[in-house]
Amino acid sequence: MDFAIETADLVRTFKIKRGEFLTAVDRVNLQVKPGEVFGLLGPNGAGKTTVIKILVTLLYPTSGRAFVAGHDVVREAEAVRPLINMVSGGETSGYGILNVRENIWMFSQFYGMPGKLAKERIDRYLKRFEMTGDAATKVNRLSTGMRQKMNIIRGFVTDPQILFLDEPTLGLDVHIAREVRQYIREWIAEKKDHTILLTTHYMAEAEELCDRIAIIDNGKLVACDTPAALRATMGEGGAFTLTLSPAPTDTTLVDQIPDVRNAYLAKSDGRTTGELRFTLNSDARLPEIFAAATQAGFAVRGFSKREHDLEDLFVKIVGRRLHEDE
Ligand SMILES: Nc1ncnc2c1ncn2[C@@H]1O[C@H](COP(=O)(O)OP(=O)(O)OP(=O)(O)O)[C@@H](O)[C@H]1O
Ligand SMILES: [Mg+2]
Repeated sequence: MDFAIETADLVRTFKIKRGEFLTAVDRVNLQVKPGEVFGLLGPNGAGKTTVIKILVTLLYPTSGRAFVAGHDVVREAEAVRPLINMVSGGETSGYGILNVRENIWMFSQFYGMPGKLAKERIDRYLKRFEMTGDAATKVNRLSTGMRQKMNIIRGFVTDPQILFLDEPTLGLDVHIAREVRQYIREWIAEKKDHTILLTTHYMAEAEELCDRIAIIDNGKLVACDTPAALRATMGEGGAFTLTLSPAPTDTTLVDQIPDVRNAYLAKSDGRTTGELRFTLNSDARLPEIFAAATQAGFAVRGFSKREHDLEDLFVKIVGRRLHEDE
């Protein structure tokens, strides 16, 4: 089958100092099917943007090859460009002295869109993203969120066969981010043969939008599958919270139970109850934990379980959280 995006042993190194090189993309092999929303997930500096820059013909690979819609991104860059578009989160693109409509119009004309079609689409998108009232506002007067919505419109307006979204919801408030995700879903449902390659730091966003996800760390692809299959590799079990009274002062209670990992104390109201959190790969140990709690003189006031999510998988593979501050 023909892939929408394919890379073969793709490598990109950067020279950082005399004789010192950094491998930003390290033999990456990707095969993205037409119609897929494909997610690239990884911590800062993993190489996500570098992969995208190569695919959109902004950067040459050091070795290996990459194809977009069957065209080699190096040898046939001219054939790739009309078929694609790209939106990056936090970009300050656009010309400040032009207004919103003029900016989007200008980009539509870079793609050679017929005037009538461009005008219709721009109007439709402005309305869809509740920006009709801002059409005449100069870009340098827009808030970050409004500017990003304009960038998103610029990405969709040319109806690209393959759309690259590099952290499209970065810095957006919850409401606008949701609106953007909602539109991505609508667009891909409507245009069955169109493809999106998306990067994000947000696990939940990747789970919500992506048909398949590749986890990238230090330039290397470390996992690639559907969100469900990736989660299934974690097995059963999950993250548990026990609310105990009186509040425990350490994690001894669960430390003695085999298979318990990452036990820590959370929320304690100082007197009556406290939370003990831990992960387990199987639910089979739970009765033992409840019995141990009772025996140690605790009353169990609450209990909850969260199934393993992609963040847990990320920790397992990469050895740290996506966001170091969590
Ligand atoms: N032009 C460049 N010159 C030197 N090093 C670069 C250059 N561009 C990227 N790098 C390095 O390559 C690595 C990968 O960067 P890249 O921007 O692809 O990461 P990323 O996964 O997009 O990260 P983030 O989540 O922060 O956007 C980083 O170590 C970065 O410092
Ligand atoms: Mg990046």
